[in-house]
Amino acid sequence: MKRELRQTEDGSNTIYVPALNEHYHSFHGALQESNHVFLKNGFYKMSQSPLRILEVGFGTGLNSLLTACASFNSNLVTDYVGVEAYPVTSEMMLNMEYPSVINQRNAALYSSKIISAQWGKRNVIHSKFSLTKIDDTIQNYHTEELFNLIYFDAFGPRVQGDMWQKDVIQKMFDFLAPQGTLVTYCAMGQFKRDLRDVGFEVSCFAGPPGKREMVSAQKLK
Ligand SMILES: C[S@@+](CC[C@H](N)C(=O)[O-])C[C@H]1O[C@@H](n2cnc3c(N)ncnc32)[C@H](O)[C@@H]1O
Repeated sequence: MKRELRQTEDGSNTIYVPALNEHYHSFHGALQESNHVFLKNGFYKMSQSPLRILEVGFGTGLNSLLTACASFNSNLVTDYVGVEAYPVTSEMMLNMEYPSVINQRNAALYSSKIISAQWGKRNVIHSKFSLTKIDDTIQNYHTEELFNLIYFDAFGPRVQGDMWQKDVIQKMFDFLAPQGTLVTYCAMGQFKRDLRDVGFEVSCFAGPPGKREMVSAQKLK
């Protein structure tokens, strides 16, 4: 799959996939979107430790890098699993140059550890953050261990409708521990109805710049 590096409006880079006419992040700002949807409305609302996070669509590793930086400054110990069906090459991940825009202590060190982390194995990035990268589809991925937080960062329903269907939503519900939360940038009506149908309590928050709403869905029990 051909991938091109593009700069978004906040100065951070993303990947554009010509065959899908789709970007990996919001064109209004990749960093801004990740910080808003996954950190501000996900990670920073969690209090349990250890905290188990599942990311669906690991991609460039931006969300894991931001979470590694946030974990360092928090009281939480985070165990992070990133599932990716089409891994981005290490060279392309490096070319994203995220540490230069993130501007947080040790971002460059964590970024290089995340990029070189072995697939299919738990890697310690720092004392409060470990990462397991899984080279597989979310449909094939199985684990007995439950998660407290899911970063659902699949391509949008326009290009990858199957990722937003009830079978995947049910799987996300089953992956979560009671009180667990799924956050995503998508707030499409049918998706929200399907989340409620499988048992989630759905809340909508203001989206990142360029997007009216985003979704946070909680598994109450
Ligand atoms: C919107 S991009 C993710 C952006 C990523 N979180 C980042 O910060 O770079 C969607 C990602 O989902 C991946 N993907 C597509 N189909 C998938 C599947 N069935 N299971 C897991 N990942 C998938 C794509 O390869 C892509 O990396």
